[in-house]
Amino acid sequence: VAVFMAGPVGAEDRAAGEAQAVDRQAFRDAMSRVGSAVHVLTTDGRAGRGGATMTAVASVSDQPPTVLVCLNRGSSTNRLVHENRVFAVSTLPAGAEEIAETFAGRRGLSGAERFVAGHWDRLVTGAPVLAGARMALDCRVVDMMEVATHTVLIGAVIAVRVGGAGGSLIYLDRHYHTLDP
Ligand SMILES: Cc1cc2nc3c(=O)[nH]c(=O)nc-3n(C[C@H](O)[C@H](O)[C@H](O)COP(=O)(O)O)c2cc1C
Repeated sequence: VAVFMAGPVGAEDRAAGEAQAVDRQAFRDAMSRVGSAVHVLTTDGRAGRGGATMTAVASVSDQPPTVLVCLNRGSSTNRLVHENRVFAVSTLPAGAEEIAETFAGRRGLSGAERFVAGHWDRLVTGAPVLAGARMALDCRVVDMMEVATHTVLIGAVIAVRVGGAGGSLIYLDRHYHTLDP
């Protein structure tokens, strides 16, 4: 039995050791070359309302519609989502830099105060969605995984709003850009 165990366990240990050998800043520099849509993740419920600017949002499956987001464990929004068990994702349109900066905590506002930036409504769960978002997803948390500094949240998408045509906000090389189709 020990022989069968040795393979996978050894491989995991080696991966952990090798990951440590890659400098954190080198990894951040590499990821800065990846252009990403900018979203605001929001939540509301028993624990209260809040939100954070996010690029780490990905589609997992369309059957059933499922997304994942990676949210820093130290973020105030993380505690709220853990308790509320719902979140919404609003994809920012061109010109929404101020909303992005507000929800990144760079305007000195926290929790519900951040919603002074933008106009917000709701779909099903009560998590705020941005009026004018390129698209919005309303989700219930169906799984959570604590990985390194972040929580990987898996969301079942229970409502969708597809926004109108127009430009999108993109984060690339540590700056905001507009992608205008
Ligand atoms: C362009 C951009 C992308 C970001 N992407 C993420 C992300 O994917 N995950 C994350 O946890 N934080 C991300 N952040 C940082 C959070 O927005 C920020 O830490 C958070 O809003 C702080 O929230 P708090 O003050 O409620 O703790 C990003 C910030 C910016 C400006």
